[in-house]
Amino acid sequence: MNKKNNLGLDICFMNEDDPFIVFKQWMSEAEKNEINDPNAVALATVNESNQPDVRMVLLKEFNNNGFIFFTNLESKKGSDLKKIPKASMCFHWKSLLRQVRISGEISSISDKEADEYFNSRPYLSRIGAWSSNQSKPMETRDAFLNRIQKYKNKFSDQNNVPRPNHWSGFMLSPKRIEFWKDVEGRLHQRLEYLKELNSWKKNILYP
Ligand SMILES: Cc1cc2nc3c(=O)[nH]c(=O)nc-3n(C[C@H](O)[C@H](O)[C@H](O)COP(=O)(O)O)c2cc1C
Repeated sequence: MNKKNNLGLDICFMNEDDPFIVFKQWMSEAEKNEINDPNAVALATVNESNQPDVRMVLLKEFNNNGFIFFTNLESKKGSDLKKIPKASMCFHWKSLLRQVRISGEISSISDKEADEYFNSRPYLSRIGAWSSNQSKPMETRDAFLNRIQKYKNKFSDQNNVPRPNHWSGFMLSPKRIEFWKDVEGRLHQRLEYLKELNSWKKNILYP
């Protein structure tokens, strides 16, 4: 028989009161098992008309305050989050048959943090951030390629490409984090953490 934790869940959930520790453990297992982008996560936002939208982003960092991703601030998600600073994330690690759902409030990260991450990116990614009017219609692909060349000329020193003002990061500070693990017969195991003032309340949920 599988070993269980004190909630009767498989031991992979651990007996943790801090969901960030569980997340760190699951992410490290995903990093060993996923063939691509274990940090890829679906990000849901909502616009002023209450229309939800979802797309993938890459989780670039997480700490006890939240989960950080980067994007063009003038993109669809950027304008949704400016008006309604709430979001949800969903990871699905197929290799592990696990899901993590996170929802909460969005805040902007500091210019210093954004600069640090921007400067760590490959040259072409930094040029791309200048050249792409993310999610705006493009006249032709050549128009985009011409913009890339224009910015390569403008910022020919690969060690000195400034971060565009329209490119930065957001942090999702969770109010709820749920860990889900596949069980045969769809008898899945779910552990929910709900944020309280200075702690997390744990619930196990029916599948
Ligand atoms: C695996 C994967 C990772 C992605 N990572 C990012 C990301 O970190 N930031 C980003 O702006 N777009 C990322 N994209 C592209 C977005 O899914 C999306 O196409 C783009 O950001 C425009 O979305 P929007 O119009 O809703 O703003 C990624 C796409 C995939 C498939």
